[in-house]
Amino acid sequence: MITYNEQNQTFTLYTCNTLYQMKVDHYQVLLHTYYGPRIEECDLSYLIQCADHSFSPNPNETGYDRTYSLDVMPQEYSTCGVGDFRLPSVELELPNGSRSANLRYTGYYLQKGKYTLPELPAFYSGEEDAETLIVCLEDAAAQVTVKLYFGVFEASDLITRAVQIVNQGTETIRLCRCASLCLDLLRTDMDLITFNGHHLMERCLDRAPLRPGIQSVGSIRGASSHQHNPFVILCDHDADEEKGLCYGAMLLYSGNFEAAVECSQYESSRFVMGIHPYHFCWTLAPGESFTSPEAALVCSPCGFAQMSRQFHRTIRNHLLRDPYSHRRKPVLLNSWEATYFDFTADKLVEIAKEASLLGMELFVMDDGWFGSRNDDNSGLGDWRINKTKLPEGLESLVAKINDMDMAFGIWVEPEMVNENSDLYREHPDWVLHIPGRSPARGRGQLVLDFSRKDIRDHIYRQLQAVFSSAPIAYIKWDMNRSLTDVWSAALPAERQGEVYHRYVLGVYDLLERLHHDYPHILIEGCCGGGGRFDGGMLYYTPQIWCSDDSDAVDRLKIQYGTSFCYPPSCMGAHVSAVPNEQNGRITPLETRGVVAMSGAFGYEMDLKKCTKEEKAEIRRQIQLYKTHYDLICQGDYYRLSSPFENPSFTAWEHVSADKREAVVSLIFGNQRPASPFHRLRLKGLDASLQYQVNSGEKLYPGSTLMEAGYPLPPVQKDYQSLQLYLTAGS
Ligand code: GLA
Repeated sequence: MITYNEQNQTFTLYTCNTLYQMKVDHYQVLLHTYYGPRIEECDLSYLIQCADHSFSPNPNETGYDRTYSLDVMPQEYSTCGVGDFRLPSVELELPNGSRSANLRYTGYYLQKGKYTLPELPAFYSGEEDAETLIVCLEDAAAQVTVKLYFGVFEASDLITRAVQIVNQGTETIRLCRCASLCLDLLRTDMDLITFNGHHLMERCLDRAPLRPGIQSVGSIRGASSHQHNPFVILCDHDADEEKGLCYGAMLLYSGNFEAAVECSQYESSRFVMGIHPYHFCWTLAPGESFTSPEAALVCSPCGFAQMSRQFHRTIRNHLLRDPYSHRRKPVLLNSWEATYFDFTADKLVEIAKEASLLGMELFVMDDGWFGSRNDDNSGLGDWRINKTKLPEGLESLVAKINDMDMAFGIWVEPEMVNENSDLYREHPDWVLHIPGRSPARGRGQLVLDFSRKDIRDHIYRQLQAVFSSAPIAYIKWDMNRSLTDVWSAALPAERQGEVYHRYVLGVYDLLERLHHDYPHILIEGCCGGGGRFDGGMLYYTPQIWCSDDSDAVDRLKIQYGTSFCYPPSCMGAHVSAVPNEQNGRITPLETRGVVAMSGAFGYEMDLKKCTKEEKAEIRRQIQLYKTHYDLICQGDYYRLSSPFENPSFTAWEHVSADKREAVVSLIFGNQRPASPFHRLRLKGLDASLQYQVNSGEKLYPGSTLMEAGYPLPPVQKDYQSLQLYLTAGS
């Protein structure tokens, strides 16, 4: 629910468990007054106290009232150059060269349902699931309108934000910064949690108390990056899974971003999130507008578990556009770690045959099927079948796979080109490059200028020819390097600050075309594993390959960190061979199965090398996953222990909405002699129900399992696993 109180000039956004309030003050500045647990409505601006603060200037219209300063007021969308020295949200460069922004309230609109954003991913809703508030601010001198969009998903405590900047004047201006979200809080006694890493180890949780000054994470790599995820949490110092106030903030954006918190001199904090201001500058001719990517906030008054579940539910129901949203996704076999570049059609068919016998339903032909692609230095850009490897063409291969009752999927990396390709030889000027500089290579490849529609059209025509030539059920869309040498031949000098963002819009444009033209195809996102794992990509690619590190033990950390925002159903996770290709670790096949089946499940190994026993185990895993699919992919997710904190085991749980069923998964760590016995306390069960564990005879009260726990068996070897299937007795 959204209300406007005319007398107090307050806007109040209600969700089931939270309340968010803004107020237009007597200078028409839009203040932020409260965001937290749901409380009785009143004008919460009484919390803001004013005093004469030296060196914090006073807006001209306050006359000689020295107690009012933008530098200390909590604001809904922060400005710059006119008296607030903290993190700005918007920065306008006028024709006279000045850089500032000064915003005053002018009006608002309310709408049923959730707003949409042109060319950008966004949460969607029907008329009844969400509401929209648009608050209009104006910079009179710049003749600019700033529209603040708020989407309220009441049932899931989720509030979305986006901003549109409109040039209402008669002269061209430049937008040098445009955050999606600004959140001013009257406190600094909080921790900042970020999710960081590198290729092969993404989204590891880091937690630190806020301190004076600015703390930030971000990316200037052109993709949201392996290094920092555009999802962060601000929380009470003692917040944990079950208790404490926490704010989760995600940005639905796949390019350069910044998430920054500043603790001010007077113990308030400002959190700003949006496109990274590095090399960003957007020209706005008269009448033109710029729309920021969307950000989404969940506030949980009772810890991280509740926050994650609210993100998971809303992402599943209002962000993913998944052809399988009401059907079970197929269990897949991916060819990459089975063959790398070294395959023929016959070899693929042989592997697929094994996969189909074991119950797999989708065969994905990974990198290496096109152009002159025999290693990663050639072929990208030539999206036509490599006739040496697939002499009878794609149609014949897909027919053979389909005959085994398996669907067919294919890998592409449309944004990239190798110099050793026909595309590059014909159009060397199509790559991002700065005139006079030779562009840096990454994985031996260059980046196509996806800000240009003509280049995207050319690539799309090639892809269409492939995707229409045979029944394709799945596409893995990869992106295997960071952007450098960012300059576009299609834009004049003063617009080069638009290229990074136009590149991302270009990727979204092509993905949207795919989604529109092939709605039945499931698209998996990938960027050297999880280098572009963000809410923006999820709108187009409802699952993303979580990491190129397929080792089950490393994956515990990666999937744990990922789960704070993103639901398990969108984490691509495969069982691979041992010793693991990335780190040489040997783990039991059961363990690899337990870890992978907690995501979008598949295998990535040469099944011909498996023993009879291993094949039986794989068959069992697939059957189990199929049986419990709804529970795993649609159920509520609970983290039971942290792989960063507990060396003895990592455990998690999926619970059905009616709490009558649960699957508990647990991986033991390295074993040590005479290790103590452990008990595992479960979560999310119905305290009043009795549960049967793995079809055993004994019934355990839900309250007992949650408070006293379940005893873990002793284990003798490293990395053993345990799965418990709980059903409520009648
Ligand atoms: C990336 C992906 C891998 C695989 C290779 C193919 O690294 O993350 O899964 O597809 O590319 O080159």
